[in-house]
Amino acid sequence: MADETWTFEYVRQFEREEYLLPNTWIVVRIDGRGFHKYVSFTNLCKNPIRLAPLWLQARISNHYGFVKPNDIRALDLMNAAAQHVLHVLHDIMISYGHSDEYSFVFHKSCTLFERRSAKIASTVVSTFTAAYIHLWPKYFAEPAPTGTFLARHSNGGGSTNVIAIEGNPQSQEISREKADLAISHLPTFDARCISYPSNHNLKDYLSWRQADCHINNLYNTTFWALVLKGGMSNTEAEEFLKGTLSSDKNEILWSRYGINYNNEKEIFKKGSVVLREYKMLEPTEAARRIDIDVASDLPKEDELSKTKREKIRKARQKADVVVRHIDIIKDDFWQQRPWLLTGQPGSSV
Ligand code: GTP
Ligand code: MG
Repeated sequence: MADETWTFEYVRQFEREEYLLPNTWIVVRIDGRGFHKYVSFTNLCKNPIRLAPLWLQARISNHYGFVKPNDIRALDLMNAAAQHVLHVLHDIMISYGHSDEYSFVFHKSCTLFERRSAKIASTVVSTFTAAYIHLWPKYFAEPAPTGTFLARHSNGGGSTNVIAIEGNPQSQEISREKADLAISHLPTFDARCISYPSNHNLKDYLSWRQADCHINNLYNTTFWALVLKGGMSNTEAEEFLKGTLSSDKNEILWSRYGINYNNEKEIFKKGSVVLREYKMLEPTEAARRIDIDVASDLPKEDELSKTKREKIRKARQKADVVVRHIDIIKDDFWQQRPWLLTGQPGSSV
């Protein structure tokens, strides 16, 4: 047997590893596959190899009757799965998500899997997906809440859509339905790793994702108001919104439908931040601190003694992993929570 192993082992040489640059922030962004994209049968026939996987996975949000534009059950489920990932992987300092995506930030001192990109991305995405599937019944056993907005339901076969309107008995009928997971429509996610060399780059990355959440949510809220409350077709609403600014969308919502966008839920407008919570610095104390960008970092993991490493791991394990819907673009957020950038656990709350 030993000889046979020797004969075959040369195949290892074909394996290639990407090691992420040392001393850089590692961001793993995961994204739901086919949560929206519709692949028509005609297109599927034209390009079956490329589109078959998407067709099978297509329209998770429609198949399970997600409330439009935001289904709180789906968002809470994403957040719970992200919390689980932070519980399991201690090197993650913060994560941010909205819609069907989540970004997980590993501290730049992290040496997990020798910083091998494929190992890190696949571990994050499979841990997240396993939790998402496991927790699904907990979140989707409850009927869809009826709020400002309305559900549009499809049975997954792309047949008749039923529009549910708040206060309309149809919406009650739909919201009582329970969305069991179907093998033909199991939610799956893809993942990629990105390295950012400076704190500034990392903050800009997260600001970009939060700005994207705001822009998409304002658009989707207005779009679905025009379709579901205003009776426009999807194409008409799309045309109507072409070239409009944020102020125009706010005005459309208010003047036509009496919706004050500012009063929409923070989770919809700002997305969700998942982090370990320690005692926050007072704004005055935070303002006195030297710029966090030049503040000393945690030394590389291999430079730390085993005891120190174990102490940090235990402190992280003990901390509460919380979900917040707050502004992460302003400097205050980072200054009040220095542990996010330094990696040094703070004092317990
Ligand atoms: P790929 O990621 O390329 O596979 O495409 P995708 O179909 O997943 O679309 P994308 O990731 O670009 O966008 C996410 C889509 O998920 C949104 O456009 C929504 O249609 C859908 N989605 C996410 N959250 C919700 C929700 O709470 N309610 C509803 N109705 N849809 C949601
Ligand atoms: Mg997606």
